[in-house]
Amino acid sequence: MKLLVANWKMNKSFNDGLRAIKSIKKKIKNDRKKKYIILPPLQSTLYIKKNLIKDDVIFGSQDCSQFKNGAYTGDISAEMIKKVGCKYTLIGHSERRIMYNENNKVLRNKIKRALEQKLKVIFCVGETLISYKQNKSSQFIIRQLINVFDKSDNFKNIILAYEPIWAIGTSVTPKMNEIDNIHHTIKKTMKKKFNILNIPVLYGGSVKPTNAAEIFSLKNVDGGLIGGASLIASEFCKIYDTL
Ligand code: 13P
Repeated sequence: MKLLVANWKMNKSFNDGLRAIKSIKKKIKNDRKKKYIILPPLQSTLYIKKNLIKDDVIFGSQDCSQFKNGAYTGDISAEMIKKVGCKYTLIGHSERRIMYNENNKVLRNKIKRALEQKLKVIFCVGETLISYKQNKSSQFIIRQLINVFDKSDNFKNIILAYEPIWAIGTSVTPKMNEIDNIHHTIKKTMKKKFNILNIPVLYGGSVKPTNAAEIFSLKNVDGGLIGGASLIASEFCKIYDTL
């Protein structure tokens, strides 16, 4: 099964989002071999779902609280995300790690909260430009993995995404063999440390209709996590067609 995930980040409010989904729905379909998942800002998800004639789109949230319901101003719990109708949640995106200081402990709690609610977790890893330049990408990523997961986790509900920080929104990507090697390292690490075979690993970071086919043809790439290009429905659909 191949997956294509649209991370809209803090873009597209109610009508914009609804329009985009209607146009995506006209052009592409989920089937047994591939699926697309949309991560709008959460309040737009509710609006979009209410206004679709046939609500057959798979939605996810871009974040999830590390806490259960309670006195946590501004936060949204995994239970609430589930009640909105989301099936997935994104955890560990580098923008949240960097701009909201989310460390391994926080991310571990978020994963636990999401799994308790039977949400599927898309967990992001990815190295800094400095680590990449020092040839330390693998070490950087292996640490990110072993510091948050536990053998008791339900790995059936976990998908990983490799997003090199320096490739996000920059129009630069690693070389094709570098992407494939890191994905292979991620799968190998999950097997060695947690005894999990062939966990899905998506690639994210400057995926466009022009480079998607080449990226998705790599042996260890199971789909994509798309930022900028997912904001334009036609671009997102073109990427989906290459999957
Ligand atoms: P871009 O596709 O804009 O590089 O963003 C990738 C991303 O951060 C998806 O989560």
